[in-house]
Amino acid sequence: MLKKRYTAIILIVVFFSTQAYADGHKVAIASAHPLATAAGFEILDKGGNVFDAAVAVSAALAVVEPTGSGLGGGGYWLLHREKDGFETLIDGREKAPLAAHKAMYLDKDGQVIPKLSLDGALAAAIPGMPAGLVHLSEKYGKLPLATSLAPAIRYAQTGYAIGDRYLKMLKVRVELIKQYPATAAIFLDNGKLPQPYSILRQPDLAHTLTQLANSGRDGFYSGCIADKLVKGVNKAGGIWTKEDLETYQIAERKPVTGQYKGIKITSASPSSSGGIVLIEALNILSGYDLQKTDEITRKHLITEAMRRAYHDRTLYLGDADFIDIPVKRLLNEDYAAGLRSSLRPDKALPSEMLSGELEQQREGTNTTHFSIIDEEGNRVAATLSINFPFGSGFVVAGTGVVLNDEMDDFSSLPGAMNGYGLVGGVANAIAPGKRMLSSMTPTFLETDTQVAVLGTPGGSRIISMVLLAALDFAKGNGPESWVQVPRFHHQFMPDVIEYEKGALSDAEITGLAAKGHQLKVARYAYGDMQAVLLNKANKSLSAASDKRGEGRAVVGH
Ligand code: GLY
Repeated sequence: MLKKRYTAIILIVVFFSTQAYADGHKVAIASAHPLATAAGFEILDKGGNVFDAAVAVSAALAVVEPTGSGLGGGGYWLLHREKDGFETLIDGREKAPLAAHKAMYLDKDGQVIPKLSLDGALAAAIPGMPAGLVHLSEKYGKLPLATSLAPAIRYAQTGYAIGDRYLKMLKVRVELIKQYPATAAIFLDNGKLPQPYSILRQPDLAHTLTQLANSGRDGFYSGCIADKLVKGVNKAGGIWTKEDLETYQIAERKPVTGQYKGIKITSASPSSSGGIVLIEALNILSGYDLQKTDEITRKHLITEAMRRAYHDRTLYLGDADFIDIPVKRLLNEDYAAGLRSSLRPDKALPSEMLSGELEQQREGTNTTHFSIIDEEGNRVAATLSINFPFGSGFVVAGTGVVLNDEMDDFSSLPGAMNGYGLVGGVANAIAPGKRMLSSMTPTFLETDTQVAVLGTPGGSRIISMVLLAALDFAKGNGPESWVQVPRFHHQFMPDVIEYEKGALSDAEITGLAAKGHQLKVARYAYGDMQAVLLNKANKSLSAASDKRGEGRAVVGH
């Protein structure tokens, strides 16, 4: 529901209290939207802790950045509680419906039907975000869920002015959205793209959020919202049942940890591949002094580490509740040393020389991330997603909830043999109730003197972005620098270094090509990193938001 009011740009002017404290402590928040950052501070002002603030920021992003995350999606919240050092990963990743099966996106000849796992109701997995919010609030917060959801409900009711980034994402999915009247009624202006700074109101979403606020998980997973969702999804060709919603549970998992040159890395464990791939790549790189190598060799070594770590992603990673993952081996430094022994400083290793399924990952651009830390060190790194911009494009009328298209993160055609006769991708095959493998990489980096919290959207490129930021942290740079690092990426397949325009100099492009790399400039700058930093000695905080996006990083004091 859009209203043209250009003057309403004033609605995005954000008021920050000068007394934004959690338990009396200063707090830094970086998120992808100013109103989401403001929601976090509003809840801190009401006496909330960083976990309450995380509920408020997550819910606000679901409203003001509906391109990236929402109640119809899922994600990961990585938490650290300073008083007892407790750390956990709330895995609120979506699950495949119970009626899902391996061949659901294949035609009669066993070939993948394009877009079936991306667009429309059949692409939607069972959302984990509402359950994640309830769990985070009830188990770790101090305030009632309804209090922490209040800013999001207000934004949905009163509306906010849409920005350039929103419009860019909408353009990507506008033809899809036109096919679904309930979605078009919310996001389009009489079937057309809205004007910049139009006011977007989402009363149905406000109602759904209010049900969640009043009734907890039952407000979404049973009762009238659940009935509407199941009926609407099935009418549109999906396969949800009431049992899918009623039985959905988040999981709490032990985060994965590693060490890189005196930095402790803590990150997401499976069902996300993010932490394992990040730590494996850093383990490979720990055998080099990247500060002393020339830039061409440095980028070559980083690329070769990415290649090998993403290769293991394809072979071994999936939902840990369904498959055995050799986590210990993948995180082992001697295992990384073995991978390093195949790495030549002068020559790229063609990916086809590595075994495994030649699976191409899609370059999803959306998702969202926020980072929070207080001066005591309590912190949250959260990466949340509905997958592609506007997810599946499908909204069940009357709910305001954009459903995800995370089913596309499964391997739709596993079991295919590669040129070596090896079978790959089985680890991430579709199965009823299974979580699809993610690349989301909410991460903490900690030294004796500093704690960093960071992450970004960006599909399969999330992990390489966090890797480059971690290496920049290791150089001694701060958040402003990490979020702006020029990006390049290699994900095993396709066998190509993709780089942001200007990220590589002409000499680097020539030098990397001479080592045997193929290179391709990315179509656009990618990622939207949000990062915060605590200096332990003087308890000073800093925060930065990626200039590629429209986020806001604030230290409350
Ligand atoms: N849907 C993006 C990811 O989970 O990696």
